[in-house]
Amino acid sequence: MQHFSLQLKTILSSLVLFSLFTACNPEKKTTETNTDVITETDSTAQMNTKKPVDIHTFAIPEEAKITHLDLKLNVDFENKMLSGVATYDIEVQNNIDKIYLDTRSLTIEKVEVDGQKAEFELANEDQNLGQKLAIPVTSQSQKVTITYQTSSEAEALQWLSPSQTAGKKSPFLFTQSQAILARTWVPTQDSPGIRFTYTAEVTVPKELMAVMSAENPQQKNDSGVYTFKMEQPIPAYLLALSVGDLRFQPIGERTGVYAEPSMISKSAYEFEEMDKMLDAAEKLYGEYAWGRYDLIVLPPSFPFGGMENPRLTFATPTILAGDRSLTSLVAHELAHSWSGNLVTNATWNDFWLNEGFTVYFENRIMEEVYGKDYAEMLALISYQDLKNEVEAMKKAGSGEDTRLKLDLTDRNPDDGVTSIAYDKGFYLLKLIENTVGREKFDIFLNQYFTEFAFKTTNTEDFLTYLDKNLLSKVEGSMQKINPKEWIYETGIPSNIPKIESERYDKAIAAATSWKEGTPAAQLETKDWAYQQWLFFLSALPEDLTSQQMEELDKQFEFSETGNNEILGKWLVKVAHNQYEKSYPQLRKFLVNVGRRKFLSPIYGELIANEKTIPLAKEIYEEAKPNYHFVSSSSIEKMLEGK
Ligand code: BES
Ligand code: ZN
Repeated sequence: MQHFSLQLKTILSSLVLFSLFTACNPEKKTTETNTDVITETDSTAQMNTKKPVDIHTFAIPEEAKITHLDLKLNVDFENKMLSGVATYDIEVQNNIDKIYLDTRSLTIEKVEVDGQKAEFELANEDQNLGQKLAIPVTSQSQKVTITYQTSSEAEALQWLSPSQTAGKKSPFLFTQSQAILARTWVPTQDSPGIRFTYTAEVTVPKELMAVMSAENPQQKNDSGVYTFKMEQPIPAYLLALSVGDLRFQPIGERTGVYAEPSMISKSAYEFEEMDKMLDAAEKLYGEYAWGRYDLIVLPPSFPFGGMENPRLTFATPTILAGDRSLTSLVAHELAHSWSGNLVTNATWNDFWLNEGFTVYFENRIMEEVYGKDYAEMLALISYQDLKNEVEAMKKAGSGEDTRLKLDLTDRNPDDGVTSIAYDKGFYLLKLIENTVGREKFDIFLNQYFTEFAFKTTNTEDFLTYLDKNLLSKVEGSMQKINPKEWIYETGIPSNIPKIESERYDKAIAAATSWKEGTPAAQLETKDWAYQQWLFFLSALPEDLTSQQMEELDKQFEFSETGNNEILGKWLVKVAHNQYEKSYPQLRKFLVNVGRRKFLSPIYGELIANEKTIPLAKEIYEEAKPNYHFVSSSSIEKMLEGK
């Protein structure tokens, strides 16, 4: 996946490294080792586990942790503010006198411990982590109550005016908490290793409806007060809320979709196969643990393709192609119900355990529902993305980050959101499958998901578990796979599986033939899947003349396609080759769509060329109000100094 463009990555990494090397919680460091693990016997686990230390939280869960959240929130669209009360059940160890929570840009009005007002301390802001909230407690303390409100700086929140929605009549709000933005809308212990259950009561304007990553309403009520319950313990990055003029339409018995009224039937059509995917997933890796699986189609500002909020995937409308062609994204977010939400990466350094497993599982679901051909094409897209990303990262000086195990010390976890976690992770798992055989690997994965359910794993624990339960039983497999090279070394190992695909070969053949002079009109492109168009576009020379661009666009109507994957890739070419005839479409796309994966490469091309920098700036100014913080901060870093 081209999650991040190259230029952006370098700028971001160096910037974060430069400005933040002094940051990061010096006080906490004295109680922990400098490596990112401390060895400790965990009596509840079978293994003598190394407990990972999450460098992206102020919480010290070994001393005091939250176990349940009861949240009362009022949603104020006029002031773009959430205000309310978060009450936590807590567990405090003996001789411990403080519980630490993460906050960022929150106004803390009052803190009570078991009903008594407490003298809390809110530390100065750390650029990466926000503000540490220290609350005095004793080992007897049971409840902490925090009265607070959010600010305009809340990076998780995007407040949309009516004109930024499909219906144009009502405002809209959504949250994006992963990786460490939950703390900007709820004071919490914001670490993937700390799980808690939650209940919530959210008050919204009467004409709107609220949904969360929890048991959800299916209808609007007259009071504007909605209650929620999440009975399974989840980490804070999976807290999610969305408020708008929403409708619900069921798909299967356990599945359904939420969207604005004008989008609901299109959405229900597009995701018709959700139920089949859920059945396929359960058949592969065991029972779905979360009750219902619904999906909400958000306004186009949503900065990601999808977000695996439990029970309710948040999704971009850019996957509504009208022909159900882009639904592998649903398979991906659904797969996270196992890899990620059930078995969670212990720290953001182990992010590949969430995403690599999910891309593998997504591929298996798609194979189950759409066949082998389809899964092969997806695997080849992964390969291309991986190859491009590794090359780009090396060129940009961030080659160290091409290891699966990351070192995000004093950095933003967003730095780890690259193709490496997704596609290198996927290929390691594919290699294991190929080496030990699918049958054995599936048994292993089932066991893994069962044993680690509602727990976390880190890379080291996974390696130990893999060796003990799988590789040691298949002679020679450890040597053949050499997982440590994949995990701790940079680049692409030479034993990466080769994927064969007829459909891929056909697309490459067509591109070759066009390069050799066959007119576009004579190419054989009948019945191509959208992935073949992506292969075709990737195989074209980077530099094309206006005549060549025009020939391709006239013949294949790329600028007008309703498939945003194809359009996104085409617009990169439009920007690179300054193909002005498609500038109106380019502008429209950049202004309307806030999905970072599409924006970064297009802006990257515009900014890479002196001539088009002014255009990039002008479009960005117009588009900025439509972008979530996640996207606008990325684009702004690309534009810095230009
Ligand atoms: N969990 C991720 C999105 C994410 C990652 C948000 C890191 C914040 C920090 C989600 O599951 C994801 O991977 N989305 C992809 C979908 C794709 C791989 C099918 C996306 O948004 O492009
Ligand atoms: Zn994912």
